[in-house]
Amino acid sequence: MHIVHTIPELRAALAAYSKPAFVPTMGNLHDGHIALVRQAKPLGDATVVSIFVNRLQFLPHEDFDSYPRTWEADCAKLQAAGCDVLFAPRESDLYPQPQTFKVQPDPQLADILEGQFRPGFFTGVCTVVMKLLSAVFAGKSQGVAVFGQKDYQQLMVLRRMVQQFALPIDVVAGQTQRAADALALSSRNGYLSEAERAEAVQLSLALQALGRDAVAAAQALPEQCAALEAQAMQALGARGWQPDYLTVRRRSDLQLPQAGDGAGALVVLGAARLGNTRLIDNFEI
Ligand code: PAF
Repeated sequence: MHIVHTIPELRAALAAYSKPAFVPTMGNLHDGHIALVRQAKPLGDATVVSIFVNRLQFLPHEDFDSYPRTWEADCAKLQAAGCDVLFAPRESDLYPQPQTFKVQPDPQLADILEGQFRPGFFTGVCTVVMKLLSAVFAGKSQGVAVFGQKDYQQLMVLRRMVQQFALPIDVVAGQTQRAADALALSSRNGYLSEAERAEAVQLSLALQALGRDAVAAAQALPEQCAALEAQAMQALGARGWQPDYLTVRRRSDLQLPQAGDGAGALVVLGAARLGNTRLIDNFEI
């Protein structure tokens, strides 16, 4: 595995390849990331992974400073997964000057759900991903980028960004990997105490229950949605969580369901805080 830190080094390492398959990450890699790398591998002629904890997508009170950085373990996992090129820019490599030009996503999609509770998050994500895509794919006529479906709204925002800027890149969704109890794998699971870890799966269970209730109410879903969602949030709140949202949305645009939207067209999404840890999850229904 070739490890590079600067954009010129990355481009030199990829010069001989025509179709890179790219997995952007913030490191602290778990089996969910490694599944994305394995998924990417047959889709291109070089598998590229980036590790960069992107300051632009964290709010001042969020966990940028404490975000786990596990360089040695990450390198070993990527080597074993068959990564060809690891791009690990320092902040000065990716942002040599303050990044004053930003990619501003469509507010209809990016100011709801995660964007409502983490204002500016998707601008930070889009800006760094645009820059990473430019670093990896400049001069290539085709490529693949793989993003995990656990960050459902992020995947949708980035898919639209790639489409609207006509980048010659196929965006591929990676299935969410789950622990034995169905908790979605996430770097932030590492923040949970033992007791919190045992409780954490309740977010997934609450979303699955909300999904079942929504399908059962399909005929009258638009009218019943708010009540079902409030009930789900209340139940989680009663267990000691602080839910930001648990909601039923249309898969196509993440807006509220309309009459006639039934199973196959919907997704349930949720974010909630357990102690100091904010977890997110989703299920297509
Ligand atoms: O999902 C993530 O880990 C990050 O948001 C991403 C896509 C690597 C951008 O920093």
